[in-house]
Amino acid sequence: MTKRQFPRPLEILDLMKFKKPELNGKRRRLNAALTIVDLRAIAKRRTPTAAFDYTDGAAEGELSLSRARQAFEDIEFHPRVLRDVSAVDTSTTIFGGPSALPFGIAPTGFTRLMQTEGEIAGASSAGAHGIPFTLSTLGTSSIEAVKAANPDGRNWFQLYVMRDREISYELTRRAAAAGFDTLFFTVDTPVAGSRLRDKRNGFSIPPQLTPGTILNALPRPWWWWDFLTTPKLEFASLSSTGGTVGALLDSAMDPTISFKDLDVIRGMWPGKLVIKGVQSVDDAKALAKAGVDGIVLSNHGGRQLDRAPIPFHLLPDVVKAVGADVEVTLDTGIMNGADIVASIALGARFTLVGRAYLYGLMAGGRAGVDRAIEILAGEVVRTMKLLGVHSLAELEPAHVTQLERLIPRAR
Ligand SMILES: Cc1cc2nc3c(=O)[nH]c(=O)nc-3n(C[C@H](O)[C@H](O)[C@H](O)COP(=O)(O)O)c2cc1C
Repeated sequence: MTKRQFPRPLEILDLMKFKKPELNGKRRRLNAALTIVDLRAIAKRRTPTAAFDYTDGAAEGELSLSRARQAFEDIEFHPRVLRDVSAVDTSTTIFGGPSALPFGIAPTGFTRLMQTEGEIAGASSAGAHGIPFTLSTLGTSSIEAVKAANPDGRNWFQLYVMRDREISYELTRRAAAAGFDTLFFTVDTPVAGSRLRDKRNGFSIPPQLTPGTILNALPRPWWWWDFLTTPKLEFASLSSTGGTVGALLDSAMDPTISFKDLDVIRGMWPGKLVIKGVQSVDDAKALAKAGVDGIVLSNHGGRQLDRAPIPFHLLPDVVKAVGADVEVTLDTGIMNGADIVASIALGARFTLVGRAYLYGLMAGGRAGVDRAIEILAGEVVRTMKLLGVHSLAELEPAHVTQLERLIPRAR
């Protein structure tokens, strides 16, 4: 029989631990987000459907993206125990410089469309957390503005080699002059992928006021207020080139790009040169032979070729094929710090996050990006400790296996 007593007022008082209420709505919202998936839910509530879907969506049936995420979910970790993990070091070096964490911010176009603080929020938050920021050719903040937002941190520039080569060469020179230390030449976009959500939403840049978008705007007045009271949305690095948005976009993708362009860019760029969008072992080998400093195993977040290889599955073979001189970075599908840790264990030197950062941006501007980075960083640290490792260098393939579901079949 349980012995009972009268409740004692002092004991009740002891249990009553009311937290000071958070009066700042944005802070309250962001503090409640414990995962990137939580940030995505906030982002979806606060962003007009067309802009949210432009970010969240991928090409065709969106299989490349969902498979890449599934592959990360299918990771099984193999921890070691009794290793005193009171202190872990998450820092690394990548493309000739430091990063406090094994991930950086991926290049994304139209970023101010998602939330008007855009690249400035990304670059300043990256700088504050000691990780690199990558500006897209189709960015909505200029090379110089990004440098001003992240003056002491590392800025990288992503290049589309455009039909009018002189535009791309000029951007390359500007990025070098502004002190950007690494150039990402994106090669998985000879033509635009087919983003069906955008077509169905009648997505346009700038967003157009139609009866549909006005109705959609009603529950999201702050987004529109922000949009209408801040500087005009434009391709900041390209604004001096003239032409309409459509013409610019069309000229950004050139189906004739080839290894010859690589040689030209190599000749112009003084820093590290990285090829983004590599999706085969043979291409990785050819690029290593061509003398690039790094490659990004990526299918562009599933936004180009649908049913593309899963970068995480390609990783071990590519790392083996290119050797130590080429630093292999991976993106597509990262939603959790554990995905990052697993990638490092299988030989990636570094990873990039696209949507994970953009969900944070849409959820709360700069503070939302901070939250996204903190969530991922917390997951990286916790996963490393639970695996029993003290540094990224201690992570090894034996820490990770894949559950059967999405293993590529033998050819
Ligand atoms: C909204 C959006 C815009 C993007 N724009 C570019 C771009 O301009 N240039 C580029 O090389 N990659 C671009 N990407 C691809 C990212 O750099 C990165 O490869 C991808 O987002 C990684 O997948 P994740 O979103 O699952 O992290 C874009 C991705 C998104 C989501």
